[in-house]
Amino acid sequence: LDKTVELKNGIKMPTIGLGTSLRHKPNKVDNQQFVESVKHALKIGYRHLDTAKCYNNEHLIGQAIKESGIDRKDVFLVTKLFPDDMGYDKTLKAFDKSCKQLKVEYIDLYLIHFPAKLRGQNNDLEKSRQVRLETWKALEKLHSDGKCRAIGVSNFMQRHLEEIIDAGMTIPSVNQCEFHPYYNNRELYDYCTKIGIQFEGYSPLGKGNLLNDPVVLELSKKYSKSCAQILLNWSIRNNVVTIPGSTNHERIEENFNIFDFSLSDEDVGLLWTLNKNEKVSWDPTNII
Ligand code: A2P
Repeated sequence: LDKTVELKNGIKMPTIGLGTSLRHKPNKVDNQQFVESVKHALKIGYRHLDTAKCYNNEHLIGQAIKESGIDRKDVFLVTKLFPDDMGYDKTLKAFDKSCKQLKVEYIDLYLIHFPAKLRGQNNDLEKSRQVRLETWKALEKLHSDGKCRAIGVSNFMQRHLEEIIDAGMTIPSVNQCEFHPYYNNRELYDYCTKIGIQFEGYSPLGKGNLLNDPVVLELSKKYSKSCAQILLNWSIRNNVVTIPGSTNHERIEENFNIFDFSLSDEDVGLLWTLNKNEKVSWDPTNII
């Protein structure tokens, strides 16, 4: 099982990272507990942290990295641009602000969080396209200025990716989307894989929905691994970078201990058949 993947531009990205979106958690932890959970992840070997401006925790992630004593350069740090900050100048400003919050000089991977605002806030297709391309131009600049090592997108559909390609701009290194057996996003996964965009999956456990699936339970018995470990192994076996989120120290460890086994090709295939097109997260068809 691969511990890193190589992005288009030769940068290495760890295949597993710590997801830090806590917005959907029923029992939110306090700031200090959150910082401790991130430090615990770093202590046991995670070297990839995934955050976003809208998670409102960049300052805490920055604090955790500093307090961990681990070299900044040894952590692969990902953050994302909030839709309100789209546009060339606003993007550059928002990037600087994220760096300040995170207390770092550069970001490893900067992503456009969503292709546009939610429906109803933005009905002009052409304007929406222009804002996306201006924003992408700002990311290209951040990359060429050495402020981020790689640039990518999140929640982009094929048509949004094609806009960038048709404009002759840099192809995104990464597209981060929902990915788990109940929502396997097969067409987009195939498209990204075909053109060399690294596919990255969020909500790899389907927000817990998959932990009681009979097929997953069967595989859990067969490999003597937890259901979560089966699902994370499946992501990486498909060359999908994965970012399970947890603030519980044991589960953080459980999610990282997936490199000592590998699902057979047959079992990888079996999990592909569970698709229900059932999203647990935000629905990208709601935007233009
Ligand atoms: P917790 O922080 O209490 O561990 P996803 O990454 O698919 O969005 O799922 C995140 C949710 O799954 C969180 O609520 C997290 O809660 C829970 N979770 C994370 N890892 C595990 C695990 N190994 N087993 C069971 N639940 C988990």
